[in-house]
Amino acid sequence: MAILMFILILLLFIFTCAYNPGTSTKINNSNITKISNEQRYQHYLYFPRSERLQYREKAREMFQFGYDNYMKYAFPQDELDPIHCRGRGPDIERPENYNINDVLGEFSLTLIDSLDTLAVMGNVSEFQHAIKLVIDHVHFDRNSTIQVFEATIRVLGALLSAHLLIVDPLQPFGNLTIPNYDNELLDLAHDLASRLLPAFEKTPHGLPYPRVNLMTGIVDGSRNDTSTAGAGSLSLEFSILSRLVGDPVYEQVARRAVKSLWDKRNNVTGLLGSVIDVNSGEWLGQLSGLGAGIDSFFEYLLKNYILFGDEADLRMFDDAYESVTQYLRRGRVNCMDEDGIHPMFVNVNMHTGQLATTWIDALQASFSAVQVLRGDIDEAICLHALYYSIWRKFGVLPERFNWQIKMPDVLFYPLRPEFIESTYFLYQATKNPFYLHVGRDILDNLNTYTRVECGFATVHDVRDKTLEDRMESFFLSETCKYLFLLFDEENYLNQHGANHYIFTTEAHIIPLMAKLRKKIINFDEMTSISENQENEGDKPTHTSEHELINVNRNIIKVETNLIPIRKKRINETSCRSRPMSDRHQLPLSANLLYQLDEMVGVIATQT
Ligand SMILES: *[C@@H]1O[C@H](CO)[C@@H](O)[C@H](O)[C@H]1NC(C)=O
Ligand SMILES: *[C@@H]1O[C@H](CO)[C@@H](O)[C@H](O)[C@H]1NC(C)=O
Ligand SMILES: *[C@@H]1O[C@H](CO)[C@@H](O)[C@H](O)[C@H]1NC(C)=O
Ligand SMILES: *[C@@H]1O[C@H](CO)[C@@H](O)[C@H](O)[C@H]1NC(C)=O
Ligand SMILES: *[C@@H]1O[C@H](CO)[C@@H](O)[C@H](O)[C@H]1NC(C)=O
Ligand SMILES: *[C@@H]1O[C@H](CO)[C@@H](O)[C@H](O)[C@H]1NC(C)=O
Ligand SMILES: *[C@@H]1O[C@H](CO)[C@@H](O)[C@H](O)[C@H]1NC(C)=O
Ligand SMILES: *[C@@H]1O[C@H](CO)[C@@H](O)[C@H](O)[C@H]1NC(C)=O
Repeated sequence: MAILMFILILLLFIFTCAYNPGTSTKINNSNITKISNEQRYQHYLYFPRSERLQYREKAREMFQFGYDNYMKYAFPQDELDPIHCRGRGPDIERPENYNINDVLGEFSLTLIDSLDTLAVMGNVSEFQHAIKLVIDHVHFDRNSTIQVFEATIRVLGALLSAHLLIVDPLQPFGNLTIPNYDNELLDLAHDLASRLLPAFEKTPHGLPYPRVNLMTGIVDGSRNDTSTAGAGSLSLEFSILSRLVGDPVYEQVARRAVKSLWDKRNNVTGLLGSVIDVNSGEWLGQLSGLGAGIDSFFEYLLKNYILFGDEADLRMFDDAYESVTQYLRRGRVNCMDEDGIHPMFVNVNMHTGQLATTWIDALQASFSAVQVLRGDIDEAICLHALYYSIWRKFGVLPERFNWQIKMPDVLFYPLRPEFIESTYFLYQATKNPFYLHVGRDILDNLNTYTRVECGFATVHDVRDKTLEDRMESFFLSETCKYLFLLFDEENYLNQHGANHYIFTTEAHIIPLMAKLRKKIINFDEMTSISENQENEGDKPTHTSEHELINVNRNIIKVETNLIPIRKKRINETSCRSRPMSDRHQLPLSANLLYQLDEMVGVIATQT
């Protein structure tokens, strides 16, 4: 009987362990372990300046290597195949090859996406050269069927960012002005956006079709399923364009899509799904998480508020964050406590809030950057630390990590930037040398595992580091940019720009200007947008350069930590309230770092 009871209890124990990540990994609080844990993570407390400068140059060199080879072997095609040293364009034979055709539109994608990285790195001559190439070679009158979301964040955002850099009268990154510049980039952006507009026409719920043909608009038999992020995070770029050219239609359609999604939240949980049918308005994917399919929806609610200053956007973000905290967040309430399971944002069913998967994905790593912007630094530290453990387990991030079996569920790593992005944001918020160490690990691992003949290659399998011959444009535009900025303490963006710029979800920098804060539509009347409005403004109507110059000097200061917060367990933490002495301690205690390493399986669980 006793044996039977024992087996039952054992089974119960195993079941519990299997259900809760990390229950089996209790912290050993005895003094001896504490000391050894502290020793284990001690090297994170200091990062010499000389090494920081050395890593800044390494980051610059990585960008240069990929960029130069793209220009040599691939331009004017969209991407560089880094292993075979050749260009890559759309897959014309297989239109359904969305993985390629959603982003490659025969518009020199990698060049456009790289423009503001050249500026941030201070390479004035190459920036000017690249702008000239874009003006001379790029047009959008192409028979390419591309994804509206990808074209918006990678191309539209890049063109707007480069345009604003060129016309900035202060020129803080070196004199990037282009002789005889006549708003060509803004015209290109306007032209592209007008070719994306058909996606919004004739859909009953204001949700855009996921794809358009740049020449002909919606293709017959076009798919109706769009991701929440795809439909609901066009608002930043579209609103910037609207406000620069004085044509409200772009902002209107993009905001209407956000509102439409917002209204389709579950009325009990407040959660959104990840895939929706643009025609029926029904959720096709009821998975609710913070990763693929939904990530930038949350990010853009907050960034819309920071850039345009509309309180309604902040309220939406806070409501969404509250639902996410309530239903997705598992683990101990205060993530800095030493008792309980390390917090994690799981994927749940949007209607029931019940656990839906045992994996978390690589895109979710960007959410700690969003938490930093909201002033929720402790939570950002904890989420980032989880991904750092996963990174160290493989030396890169698997697309999906199964926290139950501590192994990847989806094996590839396409050089994604999200984890380094959060590392950069956390370094800016805390100035803790820990994050420079994280950046060094990332940079070294990228060079060790992904560097090939002509650039950096997608990891096919994070376990054996086999590679695929693809270097996505975000490697140069985001991964390299954030790595460089992490180590380039002296950069204008870090010295003076932190409150003057935001990064789009593709890491394009946009100045916070008074001009962009001027409302050009009344959002409350937005739902009654009429058909004839949609055809307005085919002609670009540029505001005078003078106006931009005048207001541009008057940059609005947004102190992210002044935003009044507070919801439930989202407790006060902000950059400002963190004492300087914190910089000389680990952001998360050695015991907690150790607990995470055990939970993820970086180190074997002590028995
Ligand atoms: C904690 O660590 C000490 C010293 O290493 C060891 O003696 C003890 O058994 C450990 N306790 C647990 C519960 O692992
Ligand atoms: C742990 O260390 C503290 C002071 O550092 C000491 O007072 C305490 O007795 C130690 N506990 C054990 C179990 O060794
Ligand atoms: C600027 O970029 C060009 C082309 O990549 C490169 O040859 C040059 O060395 C760079 N200059 C600086 C100062 O980084
Ligand atoms: C566009 O491409 C499709 C197939 O990729 C082809 O069938 C069609 O004829 C092309 N249209 C034009 C105008 O070139
Ligand atoms: C940038 O250079 C142009 C000439 O190339 C000059 O007219 C302009 O004043 C410069 N701007 C700044 C801010 O230095
Ligand atoms: C998209 O929805 C429309 C209207 O419900 C339908 O006619 C069409 O077949 C759908 N397209 C696809 C590819 O399923
Ligand atoms: C939530 O929505 C469902 C259907 O959409 C409706 O039946 C239900 O009454 C709503 N519940 C609340 C509390 O509004
Ligand atoms: C924040 O947490 C501290 C202790 O962790 C607590 O004393 C304080 O009341 C909390 N504040 C809010 C607004 O919950």
